[in-house]
Amino acid sequence: MQVEPTALRLPKLDARLSAIASLVRPGVRCADIGTDHGHLIAWLAASGRILSGFACDINRKPLDKAACSLSEYGVSDRVKLILCDGLSGLHPGEVDDIVIAGMGGDLIWEILSTQSWTRDPALRFLLQPMTKTERLRRSLWENGFDILREEPAEAGGFPYTVLQTAYTGKVRHPSQIEAYTGLLWQDSRPAAINYLEKVTRQVREKVEGLSASAQNREEYMSYRTLLTELESRCKK
Ligand SMILES: C[S@@+](CC[C@H](N)C(=O)[O-])C[C@H]1O[C@@H](n2cnc3c(N)ncnc32)[C@H](O)[C@@H]1O
Repeated sequence: MQVEPTALRLPKLDARLSAIASLVRPGVRCADIGTDHGHLIAWLAASGRILSGFACDINRKPLDKAACSLSEYGVSDRVKLILCDGLSGLHPGEVDDIVIAGMGGDLIWEILSTQSWTRDPALRFLLQPMTKTERLRRSLWENGFDILREEPAEAGGFPYTVLQTAYTGKVRHPSQIEAYTGLLWQDSRPAAINYLEKVTRQVREKVEGLSASAQNREEYMSYRTLLTELESRCKK
């Protein structure tokens, strides 16, 4: 009797988590910081994309949820659970790719910049900010990290971007438009266009808020220029 191979059982990832997964290098040791439900790291391990993993979270409850996901998809032996703040539970040299997703841009930068061992060009960081993405891009560039790729994604009607970054030591000071649009400025995929439209709406709101106050003339003018650039990009 012929035995049919069992279909690979994998957690369902939405487009945002799939975009992150697509930027993780095959065969690496990967850490998911702020893992919560643990779906991403369970998918990466169960699909065979990564060699081994770490599921890290600052809170016990999410880590318990992640433990259930790892067990459900049969990868508890290849993914270690760590209760820790940011990268503090990891040792330099034991990971290759690090995911920090679903948090604000400032917190992502704080987590990434606190440990000095992150300044290693061999490491890759997959960052998916929910807010303040322009501040995250600026912090990265101004502190010697480069953005190698950006992957736009739309999930639940919201546009997101995922940044693949690495330390190069080369410092650069981005313009406003670079900080706000990153590598998506030149990207003509529908998800990138929708992301740029979201940024344009946010900047328009900022300009409207600033125009009410005469004190912020310089800031107003700089955001006005940024808005004009964004509007002309979105019309193309
Ligand atoms: C909104 S969830 C994001 C879950 C998942 N990464 C995603 O993108 O779907 C944020 C998670 O990060 C965890 N978290 C917040 N601050 C953290 C920190 N400093 N270190 C580790 N985990 C943290 C929270 O406990 C929570 O489980």
